[in-house]
Amino acid sequence: MNTQIEPVLLPVDREPVIRVIPMPKDSNAAGDVFGGWIMSQVDLAGSVPATAHAKGRIATVAVNSFVFKEPVFVGDLCSFYAEITKVGRTSIQIYVEVYAQRRLQPDQVAKVTEAYVTYVAVDNDRKPRPVDPLK
Ligand SMILES: CC(C)(COP(=O)(O)OP(=O)(O)OC[C@H]1O[C@@H](n2cnc3c(N)ncnc32)[C@H](O)[C@@H]1OP(=O)(O)O)[C@@H](O)C(=O)NCCC(=O)NCCS
Repeated sequence: MNTQIEPVLLPVDREPVIRVIPMPKDSNAAGDVFGGWIMSQVDLAGSVPATAHAKGRIATVAVNSFVFKEPVFVGDLCSFYAEITKVGRTSIQIYVEVYAQRRLQPDQVAKVTEAYVTYVAVDNDRKPRPVDPLK
């Protein structure tokens, strides 16, 4: 019986939209990375394909789901992957996955977070505006 656990690998079929290393200022009282820091990076990451699809200004309307699967530690290299999952009349839903390469051990990779975030294309008056359908 093979009891070996498959190692987690970074996706090879796509590029991260953001790569960033959390610093001590991004930690919580226990010293691990603060969930709110990860949430803000996820919001930024999701905004990359959403802005491109909307061809302009967007606003985050909802975080539909957010799961912290593993902790993130100060110094981890965090890679954020984001892709469009659904497009409505004015809204764009994005799936964001986050992987952490542990500090000084880049072979050790953990999938730390996944989330669905919805953005709305807005005009200069912050009112929803239509976007192109998903091809
Ligand atoms: C985003 C905003 C412009 C939408 O305006 P609105 O009058 O509520 O617009 P609507 O009710 O027509 O909804 C717009 C779209 O969002 C979608 N939407 C609204 N709430 C949603 C939710 N909880 N989950 C998923 N989609 C949602 C609607 O289904 C609609 O999509 P569609 O046009 O593709 O069918 C407005 O709510 C707003 O300004 N919110 C604050 C945004 C902000 O400041 N974000 C930063 C976070 S601090």
